[in-house]
Amino acid sequence: MRVCRRATFNSAHRLYRKDWSDEKNQEIFGKCNNKNYHGHNYTLEVWVSGKVNEETGYLIDLKIVKDLIKDEIIERFDHRNLNLDCIEFENLNPTAENIVMVSWNLLRSKLDKSFGLSIKLWETENNIVEYDGN
Ligand code: NI
Repeated sequence: MRVCRRATFNSAHRLYRKDWSDEKNQEIFGKCNNKNYHGHNYTLEVWVSGKVNEETGYLIDLKIVKDLIKDEIIERFDHRNLNLDCIEFENLNPTAENIVMVSWNLLRSKLDKSFGLSIKLWETENNIVEYDGN
């Protein structure tokens, strides 16, 4: 059994590596390397797995998941420039893959160990990444 809480946030980023030349960054990241940054409306799906509690009928109270997402993800990344404002990406390229891994680690550290956790992140309507620790 899995339950899901959805959330959205808006962030700016630029894909590039400080240790690469301008030419190599442009070759690999193209438009995403725009030096003045660009934005995305991200959608996050946080899927929690486990057993349904017989007393409550809940797998987990989704209010708990909602608050975790707000405290750990939204407060950190919403209306921020990921490269400039977020310590997590100071030396980590803020690709969708890295954003979902950072988000998973943040939530995993706060979620009771009895639950499984998988996160999906939509960077655009058509580009989606998923991470469950692997
Ligand atoms: Ni982008």
